[in-house]
Amino acid sequence: MINVKEELAKLLKEQVADLTVEEIAGMIEVPQNSEMGDYSFPCFRLAKVLRKAPPLIAKGIADGLAGNPMFEKVEQVNAYVNMFIAKEPFISEVVEEAMAKGDDYGKSNVGQGRPEIVEFSSPNIAKPFHIGHIRSTVIGNSINLIHQAMGFHVIRINHLGDYGTQFGKMIVAFRHWGNEEDVRNNPIPTLLSYYTKFHVEAEKDPSLNDEARETFARLEHGEEEETRLWQWFRDESLKEFNRVYKLLGIEYDSYAGESFYSDKMPAVVEELKEKNLLKESQGAEIVDLEPYGLTPAPILKSDGSTLYITRDLACAKYRKATYDFYKNIYVVASQQNLHFQQLKKILELMGYEWSKDIVHVPFGLVSLEEGTMSTREGRVVFLEDVLNRAIDETRDIIREKGVATDNIEEIAKQVGVGAVVFNELSNNRIKDYVFNWKQVLDFNGETGPYVQYTYARCASVLRNAGEDANDLTGFDPQYLKEGSAYTLVKEIYALTDVIIEAGTKYEPSILTRHIVDMAQAFNKFYHDEHILTDNKEERKAKLALTSAAKTAIKNGLKLLGMEAPERM
Ligand code: ARG
Repeated sequence: MINVKEELAKLLKEQVADLTVEEIAGMIEVPQNSEMGDYSFPCFRLAKVLRKAPPLIAKGIADGLAGNPMFEKVEQVNAYVNMFIAKEPFISEVVEEAMAKGDDYGKSNVGQGRPEIVEFSSPNIAKPFHIGHIRSTVIGNSINLIHQAMGFHVIRINHLGDYGTQFGKMIVAFRHWGNEEDVRNNPIPTLLSYYTKFHVEAEKDPSLNDEARETFARLEHGEEEETRLWQWFRDESLKEFNRVYKLLGIEYDSYAGESFYSDKMPAVVEELKEKNLLKESQGAEIVDLEPYGLTPAPILKSDGSTLYITRDLACAKYRKATYDFYKNIYVVASQQNLHFQQLKKILELMGYEWSKDIVHVPFGLVSLEEGTMSTREGRVVFLEDVLNRAIDETRDIIREKGVATDNIEEIAKQVGVGAVVFNELSNNRIKDYVFNWKQVLDFNGETGPYVQYTYARCASVLRNAGEDANDLTGFDPQYLKEGSAYTLVKEIYALTDVIIEAGTKYEPSILTRHIVDMAQAFNKFYHDEHILTDNKEERKAKLALTSAAKTAIKNGLKLLGMEAPERM
């Protein structure tokens, strides 16, 4: 599609030879007040080069642009050149393109097929998959989808927390007090109870700790029995996680988590040694990062076992070698800021120029109105329960509303899950927020159900138009030049740029906001205008706009990881 800003920059370049097209593009503004034009070009910066007063320069440029068919009019106001785009060709271009491209509308090729890793969710095995995990899971999935739409080749990785000394404890506890059937029936709570029991018992009998250490060592050495148990715990946990991913429509290319790197760590430790980066400190091996204002990073414990960051070092190297990533993106809570600063710094000290391509995308905390969660005190809210409750409540609301559908279950799922996802992605990721049920399921607020409802409304208008909606190309744009119709065209046009901005800033909430804007713009158009009017040409134009809006809203929702129901 035409990139209006770029076209303008090229035209302006003919008027101001002293700046590059890129510089000009960077200076073009979109005025708050549409009476100042669709775009505006400030001339202050040119005064020095041209040795003329800015208003005079602006006048010269405005005169030079006048008469170009791209503009309805060009005005000089003080130091600004205010440009009013010729509406009709613009409307045709945008609406025809949305209709023609369909599911591809909004995509770009910023990424040029470059490989990128988006690592997200990454829960710990045998621990509850709770509401706190919603953030990495849902934000990460949206970043993955947005980057795909930008033309990156995304590799989706779930870096499972499936390794560490706690598995020694769990195996010991299982052998002493566990039984297979309980694990099979209710894996995560049961495994968690073993872990808790271990700590209680080890208080009384410290020899259990030695047993756990030995057991973990046997696991690290790949002993058959320990490996079998660990593998089984992992499989059972993953089954539970996968139920949630399925509800959310999330898929992965790889579940290579911490354990995957267990055999790749000795080489990293060796390399750190060779590069003189390891230092002894109280029996442990560390990398001193004090010169860089960071706390030291422990690489090996005094008993020789490796640590979280050791595994991440091996992992980053493996990913570079395997995928040759352009960016390696970690969607992980801001509590781990230090960890990722250390990781990046150590890779840099190891001489890897690609350490600059490590991107940590942090986010704040989610809490519940009922108070903070505590795994230890059993105050956990499972993510699966939250999603299922949203589905249940949505089903009730849909029944109450008497929606004409024979597929209540499917819609309740799309809308209920969508409500939770949309709510999550409405928040600026770095901010802490409180999860609030009322807000999530409000059909009238700026919520998922509201946007999906608007989408279904577009679909219903097109259904009601019957055959008239079959071929909408070649419509007459003059009917869409005013008021809410034109505002809606501009919102639809902005989608591609918004997707790029959201992706570049790793901030899906920018897209979420824009989807609400598009929905509101459509609803205003719907209320202001009679779409199925008697005038055939006018009806066709308005249906074309409805169809374009439908496509744009759907494509936006898809990039949040949401479905768009045709009826609700
Ligand atoms: N499993 C970790 C946790 O639950 C998150 C893993 C983050 N990713 C990484 N490569 N370190 O806190």
